[in-house]
Amino acid sequence: MTKTIGLIVGSLRKASYNRMVAQTLSELDASIAFKWIELKELPLFNEDLEAGDGPEAVQVFKAAIQAVDGVIIVSPEYNSGIPGVLKNAIDWASRPSRSSVLRRKPFGLIGATPGGMGTVHAQLQTRHILESVQAQVLPFQKLLISQVHTKVDAEQHRLTDEKTKEYLQAYLQKFVHWIDHVPTLD
Ligand SMILES: Cc1cc2nc3c(=O)[nH]c(=O)nc-3n(C[C@H](O)[C@H](O)[C@H](O)COP(=O)(O)O)c2cc1C
Repeated sequence: MTKTIGLIVGSLRKASYNRMVAQTLSELDASIAFKWIELKELPLFNEDLEAGDGPEAVQVFKAAIQAVDGVIIVSPEYNSGIPGVLKNAIDWASRPSRSSVLRRKPFGLIGATPGGMGTVHAQLQTRHILESVQAQVLPFQKLLISQVHTKVDAEQHRLTDEKTKEYLQAYLQKFVHWIDHVPTLD
């Protein structure tokens, strides 16, 4: 059956390299339906706003995660950590804590940076955070894209480096396999 994969970009920047990577990822396999799940409308997390159904943007965000078979996050790293907008989004999605849309949801993590460390710190932190809310993060795999500015066509908003596209393709295949094999134990 056709898999539906949500794409979350951890940068709000218009010319985001991570968005270019996500765009290219979304064009690699026509048999997969990709859905963009955006962060820019989410308010800052505040428990006071959780009364009732909560803010509409949050409801839309959670419903989008609920609707997909898995989510791939493509994110930069800020100051050796997870970007605030991404952490904010995860905090919203993690509620209510025992029955959140993140529970058992398969997640993949990809990151790109003009720097040399490929967002490794942010990815480790994001994995830790997602696992703490019982999301199912693809194990043993890291896709770290360094020197990303040398691997894109910025005007076309696409990643163009062939080797990196091969890594993306391989990651995607493993992620789709992971969706079908996530453990069902609590
Ligand atoms: C506040 C701030 C902190 C940053 N810290 C890091 C960092 O720790 N590691 C890193 O590789 N790049 C860091 N960068 C550079 C980002 O990787 C770079 O701005 C990147 O292009 C952001 O991703 P985007 O192109 O998807 O928006 C930082 C950038 C900003 C604005």
